[in-house]
Amino acid sequence: MTSRSNIPGHIAIVMDGNGRWAKKRNRPRSMGHQAGLKALRSVIEESVRNGVKFLTVFAFSSENWKRPASEVSQLMKIFLRALDKEVNELHENGICLRFIGEKSDFEAEMQTKMTNAETLTATNRQLVVNIAVNYGGRWDITQAARKLAEAVAEGHMAVADIDESRIAAFLALADSPDPDLFIRTGGEMRISNFLLWQSAYTEFYFTPILWPDFDTGELTRAIAAFQSRERRFGKTSDQVRSTISA
Ligand code: IPE
Ligand code: IPE
Ligand code: MG
Repeated sequence: MTSRSNIPGHIAIVMDGNGRWAKKRNRPRSMGHQAGLKALRSVIEESVRNGVKFLTVFAFSSENWKRPASEVSQLMKIFLRALDKEVNELHENGICLRFIGEKSDFEAEMQTKMTNAETLTATNRQLVVNIAVNYGGRWDITQAARKLAEAVAEGHMAVADIDESRIAAFLALADSPDPDLFIRTGGEMRISNFLLWQSAYTEFYFTPILWPDFDTGELTRAIAAFQSRERRFGKTSDQVRSTISA
């Protein structure tokens, strides 16, 4: 069990390693994605138990369209099925679901199911789960820049008013605090265009565990690693300690 003090309020996860997990078992990559969905379900449950308030997971990047068409279509099938099968139970458990990314590139059926899930669960606050689909950190900053330019062009804002908080307000995670802990499974140590702006002061945790094997014990380990870090936000260690003991 996790120590209850200093629980990360917002955890972001790059759920990587599904394909390798399947390959190790001589199974098709889609089996890995299916197993990955199961892992997500248990991480959501464990996050609720631990009092995490926001969970943001990378399910499909803006670059993942470059994969073989057969894998992309299998992934879409898995997403659609998951939307049909999981949303009601998540709702009953007080989970608020949000989808971040360029949703207009998805087929109409998928867009409708995402919107319905968001509407149904909108007021739930046990845990907010942001699912990043067709998401890229550069896409996010670009779409925010476009909205800011529009606001200026239409006279709602002056150029001099543009500051960090106004940029953040147009980003996909405007309603969630910045992530405290960023977990990447699968052994790669890169961001792969996930939350570029929002991870400015996030603590990173990389593990070789493949996503379908990431169980509640692994989440506990990641949270414990977070709890052992000293977050200084540019200050000195002495300053940080005097604030804690004050
Ligand atoms: C992550 O697992 C899931 C998606 C990107 C959709 P991968 O499919 O990237 O698995 P590996 O990295 O090839 O093992
Ligand atoms: C990142 O994983 C995206 C998701 C987990 C959805 P990738 O497998 O696409 O990342 P790269 O290509 O190894 O950087
Ligand atoms: Mg991968």
